[in-house]
Amino acid sequence: MNEIKVTPWEVKGNINYEKLIKEFGTEEVNDTLLKRIEKYTGELHFMLRRKVFFSHRDMHWLLDEYEKGNKFVIYTGRGPSGDMHIGHIVPLIFTKWLQEKFNAELYFQITDDEKFLFSKKENQTIEDVNKLAHDNLLDIIALGFKPKKTKIFIDTEYAKTLYKEAIKVAKHLTFSTAKATFGFTNESNVGQIFFTSMQSVPAFLPTIQKGKMTPVLIPCAVDQDPHFRITRDIASKLGYPKPAAIHSIFIPGLQHGGKMSTSEPNSTIFLKDTPKQVKDKINKQAFSGGRDTIEEHRRLGGNPDIDVSFQLLRIIFEPDDQKLQKIYDDYKSGKMLSGELKQICIEKINAFLEKHQEKREKAKDSIHDFLISD
Ligand code: TRP
Repeated sequence: MNEIKVTPWEVKGNINYEKLIKEFGTEEVNDTLLKRIEKYTGELHFMLRRKVFFSHRDMHWLLDEYEKGNKFVIYTGRGPSGDMHIGHIVPLIFTKWLQEKFNAELYFQITDDEKFLFSKKENQTIEDVNKLAHDNLLDIIALGFKPKKTKIFIDTEYAKTLYKEAIKVAKHLTFSTAKATFGFTNESNVGQIFFTSMQSVPAFLPTIQKGKMTPVLIPCAVDQDPHFRITRDIASKLGYPKPAAIHSIFIPGLQHGGKMSTSEPNSTIFLKDTPKQVKDKINKQAFSGGRDTIEEHRRLGGNPDIDVSFQLLRIIFEPDDQKLQKIYDDYKSGKMLSGELKQICIEKINAFLEKHQEKREKAKDSIHDFLISD
């Protein structure tokens, strides 16, 4: 059965993103919105041009406020469930661009509490997850956010501030709403039911900490939208502005599409992978849109739209539209073979990872420019 399921903790099936817009009740990122964004940024990030960010809530309101001189704060986050992979950084690369173009402050939440509460590994302790949070922190810093404009916090280490606000959210959230939104059952642990309150708080913190109505923009993968539907409902009840959001698609798993996932290491490119691991995974695992024989491929051409290596180039690793188009055309016509396409993809990924891993090392010296606690 081709069941599609998208919740913050589970993504299954081949996702139809247009259908998701209807199901979630969000708006499509269309050319009118893109033109409006371009007016302020001077150019469009390739993830916008290619509709990798395809859905949003209230972007027009956010830009209305921006026009009036009411600058927005960006809020995003990371759930430290393990080593980070290339799928996790799609929203973060875009967030960095937004921060630069709008000279915006960034609040970055790392939810060690969440990943502890939702962990399926019975003996994983909160200390284990907290350690992962500190390790992921290095990858996050390595992406290049502005130190003076970025606050990163780990939930259990910023708990005094967060908890005080989270209980206000929780007071307005019933079990039946949480159940309907996330599919909890009577067997779900009560921490899971409470957790979404913690993820709402950073959407309100700018207004609380600045003492004035401050718009917030949340760039995130679309599976996080259920949390922020609740956040937006409760915002009105607590007297805060509803956060705007802009949603990305998922990076497909190498073997099967859907969503790249830490739990399937053969289908995933981790930020810590070596050049050899990347080469082997792409060559052996990445689903190909090529034909069975070279002769057939030359004659009939390949299918870039279902080829995972091509999709990785499109979504994250080849920002140049002209270069991407040429690869698309050559592959489709049969001029380029699958092995050649994979080779381009491997080189691009390895060039990115080499730099990233250097920056990750350097990040160890600047933790204190970013991490806050209370
Ligand atoms: N729940 C998210 C995850 O599992 C982490 C997160 C917290 C987040 N706050 C966020 C993601 C805001 C995007 C935006 O990855």
